Amino acid sequence: MADASALSGADNRKRVVFLGPPGAGKGTQAERLAAHLGLPRVSTGDILREAIAQGSPLGQQAAPLIEKGQLVPDELLIGIIRERLLAPDCAPGYVLDGFPRTLGQAESFAGMVRGGAAALLVFDVEVPRAELLRRLSGRRWCPACQATYHLDNKPPRVDSTCDQCGARLIQREDDKEESVARRLDVYDQRTAPLREYYETRSRFHHIDGHRPVETVFQDLRRILQERA
Ligand code: AP5
Repeated sequence: MADASALSGADNRKRVVFLGPPGAGKGTQAERLAAHLGLPRVSTGDILREAIAQGSPLGQQAAPLIEKGQLVPDELLIGIIRERLLAPDCAPGYVLDGFPRTLGQAESFAGMVRGGAAALLVFDVEVPRAELLRRLSGRRWCPACQATYHLDNKPPRVDSTCDQCGARLIQREDDKEESVARRLDVYDQRTAPLREYYETRSRFHHIDGHRPVETVFQDLRRILQERA
């Protein structure tokens, strides 16, 4: 078992957390911010989809839950994150996308980090529900390299083909109508309470995510600069 104390350390590390409902743009912004900061983006959704593609025991357990829009059990996710954040590339910091998602995950995570939740910079990305539905129904995804597109906002250069690796784009199973409704309900019940949790404990910022990708990103950069 990995030693959680190794996740703490002398602390000029940047630990960024993205909260927000499915389709808010967490992945899109986390990827840009991670590249900007030169830090890894750690996406629990990507880790789980990779495990499913490999057919590993984790993937077999996660697949039916993800398809139905349900959460994967906390103990699995906490173990995955604990191990991932101990990897050398996370030593200078990391940008988390999709974790934590329950109070249990948030509390365990706070216990892994020196300074607890206060050491985290948390962006809560808000987007109206109608726009979330539009984004999720139009999203297309590359099963080979996990790149994300949108039929209207970010179409691939060649129809249905990944710009980065040439694989055929698909719709994620959990972006189908029934799963999306479940995911949004699960978000309201299990993840939205994290706002209150972090608002009082961490460096917390509401972000209006219903703006162009670049405008949202400039906002994140401005906040980081002000905090530098
Ligand atoms: P995960 O992959 O994390 O899915 P999610 O949180 O539902 O988030 P999404 O990937 O749907 O949306 P996003 O906010 O990242 O938006 P994106 O940038 O892609 O998790 C999947 C599943 O895994 C979960 O349902 C659960 O089962 C399981 N899981 C994962 N983590 C877990 C955890 N910690 N605990 C338990 N279970 C867990 O953008 C969406 C679309 O909008 C794209 O097409 C994009 O191009 C477009 N777009 C983005 N920004 C904009 C903008 N500003 N304007 C217009 N379009 C935009």
